[in-house]
Amino acid sequence: MIQLRKNIAEMAGYVPGFQPEDAASYIKLNTNENPYPPSPQVIDAIAKEAGEGLRRYPDAASRLAREEAGRLYGFDPSWIIMANGSDEVLNNLIRAFAGEGEEIAYVHPSYSYYGTLAEIQGARVRTFGLTEQLEPAGIPDAYACRLFFLTNPNAPLGFTYTQRYIAELAGRLSGVLVVDEAYADFADENSLDLVRSLDNVVVTRTFSKSYSLAGMRLGMAIARPEVIAALNKIRDHYNLDRLAQAAAAAALSDQEYFLHCVTRIKETRGWFSAALEKIGYQVIPSSGNYVFATPPDRNGTRVYQGLYDRKILVRHFTDPKLAHGVRISIGTREEMERTVQALRELEA
Ligand SMILES: Cc1ncc(COP(=O)(O)O)c(C=O)c1O
Repeated sequence: MIQLRKNIAEMAGYVPGFQPEDAASYIKLNTNENPYPPSPQVIDAIAKEAGEGLRRYPDAASRLAREEAGRLYGFDPSWIIMANGSDEVLNNLIRAFAGEGEEIAYVHPSYSYYGTLAEIQGARVRTFGLTEQLEPAGIPDAYACRLFFLTNPNAPLGFTYTQRYIAELAGRLSGVLVVDEAYADFADENSLDLVRSLDNVVVTRTFSKSYSLAGMRLGMAIARPEVIAALNKIRDHYNLDRLAQAAAAAALSDQEYFLHCVTRIKETRGWFSAALEKIGYQVIPSSGNYVFATPPDRNGTRVYQGLYDRKILVRHFTDPKLAHGVRISIGTREEMERTVQALRELEA
């Protein structure tokens, strides 16, 4: 008889966004991928690396990618760890800081995978809801938790917290505040200065969205060297393969291409949000590469299904706090025009 750990047997497991086998036959706006290809320099760097050198292990310290990130963000590489997707570093933060029965917390709704990772670890999970003004409700003035995950910009709603609020929250916690900046490249602000000035703030980033590299699995954390050293003890020693390391360094160094794609996505986001409002949808102003939109009848399932029938995939969450709307990733201008057309038909 196979005997699982009790918490593994009891947990449900995370369900990622639907990845259809025939993805090319859909307008795919359900997992916040980038509609533009990775930088040509990234493709070149991967191609150069995909040769006989693959018989050798990669650099265990991902030095080139960390140096490139350090130059870009103004940190010594000892403040940076590269990860096999930001999910890896979120997992390792929990493994480093939250033991069995210890508490981690996050805002609901946000990225529920934090809860899944904590359950695997046997840590306790506490969530804090949002007020009507989209402010976290009920966080104690002095709060003893091991880790607090703050998704900024919020996913799936798209709003941001001010840096002042984030600093104030960090001051209330006896544990570590992890600012999950998966979408910060599409926002006006980020918390890198708080990593420098406060000793309990960690920032995590991903290459899956703004760098068009979801398929490569690349992320990173920026934190004090003591935290990075702890995360280095925990990770798989060769967590990034040679192709991923080459891709990360090339992606970070080609800022011109990166800025061009991000700017286009932000422009399309503005156009799409206004178009949705014109057909009667409520749209939360978004700082991510997606918008959360609520139809006039507050029936997210209907909109999801109607778009699905027209070969447009968006994300609908059954969670009662989110079921009234849908999260729509920002694709190309043409994809979003076709989505607006489909929504007009649905609301006609
Ligand atoms: C808020 C948030 N954090 C982290 C991730 C995970 O990113 P990665 O692809 O780097 O594992 C996602 C992915 O959708 C996300 O939405």
